[in-house]
Amino acid sequence: MLKETLLLAKNIRTDGYDGSLEAYRRAGGYTALEKVMKSMTPDQVIEVVKASGLRGRGGAGFPTGMKWGFIPKDRKPTYMVCNADEAEPGTFKDHFLINNDPHLFLEGMILGSYAIGCNHGYIYIRGRSVRPAQRINEAIEYLYKAGLLGKNILGSGFSLDLTVHRGAGAYICGEETALLESLEGKRGQPRVKPPFPATHGYNACPTSVNNVETLACVPFIVKEGAEAFKKIGTPNNYGTRLVGISGHAAKPGIYEVAMGVSMKQIINDLGGGVRGGKKLKAVIPGGSSSNVLRPEEIDIPFDFDSVAKAGSMLGTAALMLFDEDTDIVELAYRTILFYNHESCGQCTPCREGTFWLRNLVRDFRENLGDSQKLERIGRVSQQMFGTSLCALNDAAAGPIKAFVTKYPEEFKKHFI
Ligand SMILES: Cc1cc2nc3c(=O)[nH]c(=O)nc-3n(C[C@H](O)[C@H](O)[C@H](O)COP(=O)(O)O)c2cc1C
Ligand code: SF4
Repeated sequence: MLKETLLLAKNIRTDGYDGSLEAYRRAGGYTALEKVMKSMTPDQVIEVVKASGLRGRGGAGFPTGMKWGFIPKDRKPTYMVCNADEAEPGTFKDHFLINNDPHLFLEGMILGSYAIGCNHGYIYIRGRSVRPAQRINEAIEYLYKAGLLGKNILGSGFSLDLTVHRGAGAYICGEETALLESLEGKRGQPRVKPPFPATHGYNACPTSVNNVETLACVPFIVKEGAEAFKKIGTPNNYGTRLVGISGHAAKPGIYEVAMGVSMKQIINDLGGGVRGGKKLKAVIPGGSSSNVLRPEEIDIPFDFDSVAKAGSMLGTAALMLFDEDTDIVELAYRTILFYNHESCGQCTPCREGTFWLRNLVRDFRENLGDSQKLERIGRVSQQMFGTSLCALNDAAAGPIKAFVTKYPEEFKKHFI
């Protein structure tokens, strides 16, 4: 029977823990910050994070230490921006951390800011996430009072201010360059890259954008060392993941597991399998941008590399289960409806491709499908890949192609 490996959710799973500054400090919180302020240089912080092999938890799995290492040292100001937007359908892990233990990622953010020489950081969160935004603001207020934010933190000479910025709710504003545009008060649309945010980010200054869960790993790494972090997980996939199980699961919720444990076991042992004793028809392993897997494909290690090898993506580790009664065409339609609605419209393949895919899948939904249209869905999605400014385009095309490739029989049921 698979059990949770508690690294990020350790405090949250402790009875009576309320996530206050007092409770966090009682549980050993901010000792990593004390250690760094007393005895570590910014470069040493970057080195330990690099050595830990930490990869970003926002979706792409980019190495965090490397990202911080790209920030030029000779250009000021530099910025750290925490991406707390969490808009990927199926995903609720960042808000779980924010609501229940906000100081964990805030400590990571202070450490990261010190590492890259940032004196003013931003936390970007969507406007409708009222409670999480309040939770962060309250936590920040206490940090200022305790001398853990503001001028001369713990007498170290390092100063940092944090500001919470609430977005207006477009999915695309989770993409880091669209987020930066939005933060600057402009329309949230992805930028042409290069240049990348590391050199030209917020207000064209060097910027690191990091996900909440990524930053939440940093206090452990700094306190316990890179090797302790690397003891959890599999090579190149170290640490834990907060897995958000949703859909037709018997026990939906957030579960923390060591990376590399079996996806099937996570679903059955932690998620309780499919509710009502029904059969599993499909699994989306990493949020709606990841390709669907058939039940016979899920007995794989749940880590970045293994899920990619299986033709999908670990993404946000948002495991969505679909039972035998699910209409895959309906699922595909809802998915493409979302991406078509959220496409910012800058790139023709994405703007037009999501529109055509939506119309084609809608034909099947209305029992107007045929073999030519099925083939056209595959062709349109294939033509979209790799042709646009940001990953939304591929995130729309990939899953739709996977639905028709893996479940052709479901689409054939909707032939005219
Ligand atoms: C359309 C789109 C939406 C995204 N939404 C989010 C999001 O809500 N939260 C997030 O952390 N990353 C999101 N990302 C990924 C970010 O662009 C970026 O890679 C991430 O914040 C970097 O943090 P990490 O290195 O800690 O993973 C999104 C990417 C795309 C293309
Ligand atoms: S790929 Fe889509 S969402 Fe991304 S910039 Fe282009 S049009 Fe906008």
